[in-house]
Amino acid sequence: MNGYYENKVSAVTGAASGIGLGLVEHLLAKGAAAVFMGDVKEENLTRESKRLNEQYPGKVFPVFADVTKQEQVAELVSRAKAFEGHLDFVFNNAGMGMTLPTEKITFEIWKFVVDLNLMGVVYGTYGAIPIMREQGFGHIVNTGSITGRVPVPYQAVYAATKAAVISMTESLQYELETEGLNFSVFCPGNVATAIFGDVPPPPDAVGVDEAVEHILAEVEKKSLLIIFPQTMRDFDATYRERREEFDVFARKLAAERRENYRTKGTYF
Ligand SMILES: NC(=O)c1ccc[n+]([C@@H]2O[C@H](COP(=O)([O-])OP(=O)(O)OC[C@H]3O[C@@H](n4cnc5c(N)ncnc54)[C@H](O)[C@@H]3O)[C@@H](O)[C@H]2O)c1
Repeated sequence: MNGYYENKVSAVTGAASGIGLGLVEHLLAKGAAAVFMGDVKEENLTRESKRLNEQYPGKVFPVFADVTKQEQVAELVSRAKAFEGHLDFVFNNAGMGMTLPTEKITFEIWKFVVDLNLMGVVYGTYGAIPIMREQGFGHIVNTGSITGRVPVPYQAVYAATKAAVISMTESLQYELETEGLNFSVFCPGNVATAIFGDVPPPPDAVGVDEAVEHILAEVEKKSLLIIFPQTMRDFDATYRERREEFDVFARKLAAERRENYRTKGTYF
């Protein structure tokens, strides 16, 4: 049993699928006292929470929570705190992908993605901070992406939201660590989840279990910035340390995506 997660109470957003669901399952397997599962897709939330509640009776609580609604995220967080008086972890994970050519991006799309990928994380983070400050401990784990660390053509909107999540999380760590709070932000490459919609995940995608094991091991070490897998750490280093090499790669990717949109209507 892993002490860092044993008898702890967590709230997880985007908990009915993919990485969020994987986090819930692994937290329970590591001895969580309770996990509050927030999601907007009621059907999936009901199905998955019911399934997990059979395995972990009395420890799984579905909460309908649309992260674009501040009061619904506040409700999720405060229900987790009320369970037995402590809130140990908040995983602000709900989010969506967005890969489109610029001419297809409207301001409505911008606002929609910012509301979900950034403001959803802001509501969860700033909703949990006063509770965690008062109790003097707590760990907030936000979901970024490698696309928030390096520029990726055709993903400007997504990249902007994820970069904001990363820098917000890192800034808060230095501000609030003296009060017993910890922050982590994880930045995966591709993970095999429903985020890819009807198409199969890219061949380099890692499985959810592998991703979640890595995330939870690094969170336990209180790592602030968690980039994985190794190929993405290399990619990140190329961008920061060998910019000319990165430029060649990014221009090639842009050309490939441009051509794919022209001939197939999609980026891959
Ligand atoms: N899968 C990847 O390759 C990958 C890579 C980098 C980052 N991420 C990030 O991981 C996070 C989880 O994505 P995933 O791959 O598990 O996708 P997923 O589609 O499997 O799961 C996302 C979950 O979020 C929920 N959700 C969507 N809008 C919501 C809202 N307004 N309120 C509450 N819940 C909402 C969905 O219903 C779904 O259950 C996202 O933030 C995504 O950007 C994923």
